[in-house]
Amino acid sequence: MELTPAEALKRKAAERALDFVESGMVLGLGTGSTVAHFLDLLGMKLAAGALVDIVGVPTSVRTGRESRQAGITIIGLADRDRIDLTIDGADEVSPALDLVKGMGGALLREKMVAQASDRVVIIADASKIVDRLGTLSPLPVEVVDWGQGGHIRFLEAQGASVSMRMMEDGPPQKSDNGNLILDCRFADGIPDPAALDQELHNRAGVVETGLFLGMVHAVVVAGEDGIHVMERST
Ligand code: A5P
Repeated sequence: MELTPAEALKRKAAERALDFVESGMVLGLGTGSTVAHFLDLLGMKLAAGALVDIVGVPTSVRTGRESRQAGITIIGLADRDRIDLTIDGADEVSPALDLVKGMGGALLREKMVAQASDRVVIIADASKIVDRLGTLSPLPVEVVDWGQGGHIRFLEAQGASVSMRMMEDGPPQKSDNGNLILDCRFADGIPDPAALDQELHNRAGVVETGLFLGMVHAVVVAGEDGIHVMERST
């Protein structure tokens, strides 16, 4: 099947990320359409015997399903102390390799898996690169259902316009963890992501934010001009 230009770029980034994978690794498997290409390509390498003895920790129910379809053995996060390498997508990537994630609703498990990983590599097409976080994508924030109106008012007081993530047929969409996701738009982006992240984490009822700060080691970016690997400098 012919890929759209955007899907072809995602697949190229995914293909390049395979260079980071070695036989015997425990892999964190992110969520989203870019990661779906990675799972497909990884499955092909495993089937061909070019990589062996790989197990994956999926970050969502969706990724678990896609991994099984691709023939990748999956385990739970609790089954291993450390993950060698996580490959995940992103909604925004800043020059410092900080991210906004969670438009696929998997931010909590994605962050738990990233935190347990020795190395985190992000795959993205060039449209995800921004000068300032929050300018392209809303910031997803996972909150407990109870007291939801209060969470919305709290987020609005932080300068956000808030919309609750909904199912296509009406009811609020629940994350794999049974929580709500509030998408927060900031008119001029997020001036101080670390301060906002801290403020949000101080609020009981906020489960996790889509700000991934200082967690990423490399970003593979596929654009019309080729593939670039951005590496963290420190
Ligand atoms: C999932 O919750 C997200 O963090 C995804 O990794 C992110 O939305 C990127 O998805 P795409 O690869 O589909 O753009």
